[in-house]
Amino acid sequence: MLDQTIAVTDEQIAYYRENGFVQVDNMVKPDELAELREALDEAMGASGRNSVQTDKSGGVYFNVLNQRVNVWRDHGGMARFVLSRRFADAARQLTGSSGMRLFHDHALFKMPGDSKPTPWHQDAPYWPMNESGGMSIWIALDDVDENNGCMMFVPKSQRIKNLRNVDLAKPHDIFADEGAKDVDRNTAVVVPLKAGSCTFHDGMTFHYAHANHTDRPRRALAIIYMPDGTTYSGKKHVCTDGQDFKAGEPLGGGSFPKLA
Ligand code: SIN
Ligand code: NI
Repeated sequence: MLDQTIAVTDEQIAYYRENGFVQVDNMVKPDELAELREALDEAMGASGRNSVQTDKSGGVYFNVLNQRVNVWRDHGGMARFVLSRRFADAARQLTGSSGMRLFHDHALFKMPGDSKPTPWHQDAPYWPMNESGGMSIWIALDDVDENNGCMMFVPKSQRIKNLRNVDLAKPHDIFADEGAKDVDRNTAVVVPLKAGSCTFHDGMTFHYAHANHTDRPRRALAIIYMPDGTTYSGKKHVCTDGQDFKAGEPLGGGSFPKLA
């Protein structure tokens, strides 16, 4: 039952708080995985009106990621997973927040062909949030390793704040940033995963994903959560533009439901 919570271990909680990311195996059960793959493939193949594909085949960004944001709003099967209490409650336990809200989901496919790595970046600088605490679950729908796009994280880099956005299509070297001079890329941890297993990472943690050198897409679902009470900064973002939030207001309501 996707509504049933699971307990993450004390070791996983301590590791996450220390290092800014953690691996949790078997988050999605084998029978659920078949359903999730089918739903996500359908959601990616359809041109839904409430989700957004960020680039089309042939684009520079597409070679990094074939991405669709807010698939839950177009596909009821995906809503079952994206709104699930199991994932959000694990995020709540790891962060120690009193409650977690959905910010958005994104299907993240690394397509075969001219695949590029996802460059080193932090996620939080893209988000229109005043507070820190936003974080993601990244669920592998295929087994992933360095040959098809597994992720890599720099432990403890979540302590580095106020860096510039990295443009994923035209990246600058985040390690060359003045604020990142104490972060050592050689300490990065490569995280291969079995399908159905996941990582959680803090919005500030430096991360990277390898290019996909196989002939099949690397499929992942990421869901971004924010602690209940997180307020809108007013910054442009595809998920808040056109909504009626004023800077300083808590992000909530039906678009950003409380899940745990
Ligand atoms: C990826 O899936 O390649 C990158 C995911 C992320 O940046 O969080
Ligand atoms: Ni990221």
